[in-house]
Amino acid sequence: MIVCSCNVITRAEIETAVRRIHRRQPNTLITPGLVYKELGLAPDCGVCLCHICELVHQAEAPSPPRLAKHTRRPSAVPSRNPSQLEQF
Ligand code: FES
Repeated sequence: MIVCSCNVITRAEIETAVRRIHRRQPNTLITPGLVYKELGLAPDCGVCLCHICELVHQAEAPSPPRLAKHTRRPSAVPSRNPSQLEQF
């Protein structure tokens, strides 16, 4: 899918660039400008910048925790104790 039509940048290229930046600089805030720099390009009209921000956010978001296959079901009434909620 083309994200930036001015530079013909695909979603996969942006995700790859984000991974490379993150691998090299794990504590860096990744901005659209940094993604463009990684790709050796520069934005033109800027319409795509919000979409690039979303893709960066999605790429950086931790994956949801997985539940073991045979975990116990939570009780029917959810607990209000936050320490008990962390179990699920
Ligand atoms: S669509 Fe990306 S700079 Fe124009």
